[in-house]
Amino acid sequence: MPIGCNHRVDSFGKVAPCYDAVLDLVTFGTYARFLKRAVKILAPRKGERILDLCSGTGRAASWVAYAVGKDGEVVGMDICERMVEVAKARYGKIGNVTFLEKNVTQPWDEQSHFDGILTSFALHELPETGRLGVLGQSYHSLHPHSFFPCSFKS
Ligand SMILES: C[S@@+](CC[C@H](N)C(=O)[O-])C[C@H]1O[C@@H](n2cnc3c(N)ncnc32)[C@H](O)[C@@H]1O
Repeated sequence: MPIGCNHRVDSFGKVAPCYDAVLDLVTFGTYARFLKRAVKILAPRKGERILDLCSGTGRAASWVAYAVGKDGEVVGMDICERMVEVAKARYGKIGNVTFLEKNVTQPWDEQSHFDGILTSFALHELPETGRLGVLGQSYHSLHPHSFFPCSFKS
């Protein structure tokens, strides 16, 4: 089984179309509020390039896409094909956001490319052996003086 592919990723695929609604329901709206807070902390500005690591249904990436505007760029990466399909269907038309089906524990091309990285409820999903590598790649894909707020769940 490749690194990063596990039964939880299969589960995300099964719930992808109703993921946001279910999470909002069972957390009494806290999930969405947390995402909004994370985006607020990231404070994306017009024209910036932002990466959403493990972007899921693309909800937070879509808010960031509106914030960076047409001169900015948002890239969402997620390993789960179904999550990426849902994200593209919901937000692909915004124009400045791209969703890639990608295992983030594998190398990605962008070096010193992004002004900021967002990731939410995701690092704990990665295999322990891959987490440090993902943080290292994230660092190298950022410009100097850029920003990477992330949430951890132990
Ligand atoms: C709990 S969900 C969070 C999704 C989104 N960030 C949010 O806050 O709504 C975790 C996401 O991580 C993705 N994921 C898990 N392992 C991954 C990997 N190795 N590479 C990319 N995405 C991964 C899953 O497919 C899932 O969409």
